[in-house]
Amino acid sequence: MILLIGGEKGGPGKTTIATNLAAMRTDSIEDVLLVDTDRQPTSSYWCSLREDNGIFPRVASIQKYDKSVRTEVLELMKKYTDIIIDAGGRDSPELRGALLVCDKAVFPLRPSQFDLWTLGRLRNLVETASEINEKLKAYILINQASPNPAVKEADEMKQFLNSELFSNMKLLDSVLCERISYRRAALSGMAVVEYKPEDPKAVKEIKNLYEEIFDEI
Ligand SMILES: Nc1ncnc2c1ncn2[C@@H]1O[C@H](COP(=O)(O)OP(=O)(O)OP(=O)(O)O)[C@@H](O)[C@H]1O
Ligand SMILES: [Mg+2]
Repeated sequence: MILLIGGEKGGPGKTTIATNLAAMRTDSIEDVLLVDTDRQPTSSYWCSLREDNGIFPRVASIQKYDKSVRTEVLELMKKYTDIIIDAGGRDSPELRGALLVCDKAVFPLRPSQFDLWTLGRLRNLVETASEINEKLKAYILINQASPNPAVKEADEMKQFLNSELFSNMKLLDSVLCERISYRRAALSGMAVVEYKPEDPKAVKEIKNLYEEIFDEI
């Protein structure tokens, strides 16, 4: 499967999600490649940090730029079972190229009005890509939700996203909350499932996401 983690906005957690899923996927099947198409190559940096710190399993990664991402990823699929693409935070040739080849595209959004404003453009990008890439399935993921149950932002966002306006993008059931363990794990090139002391809530959330994405093929 080719999985794209992308979006039009900086900072909603694309790299966090791409790197966590890449480590978890590599642990369960071998032939996984993380493709970093962001010119600020944070995913690649995380991979080298992981390697320097001797964290196992090693996550294979590569950087690819420009619209050739499309053809190069297809070529790489001859060698890998799964490819996870971290496509950076803006409408770019890389994002558009990746949308044309991926099976699933996940757009993480924070529960904020500023992130919601990018949805119209994302919907149009998905619509255009779907004319060529008929297998494309697009999803929205709420990330960095408040872990305080009294804050209903994520619920409000769910109601908004379930409206017909966004019928070409499905809202994932999984929600990731704002949890310090994601940052701490990333600082040493780890996934949150590998980090000690374990943060059971973060582990549960990311495992739910993993299952929702990979088990439903
Ligand atoms: N669920 C979370 N809980 C806590 N911190 C998070 C969470 N998700 C992401 N972060 C933090 O938010 C910051 C931005 O995340 P990240 O770099 O993954 O976003 P991005 O979408 O890849 O950004 P960019 O558009 O710059 O590539 C990082 O410091 C990351 O550790
Ligand atoms: Mg990033």
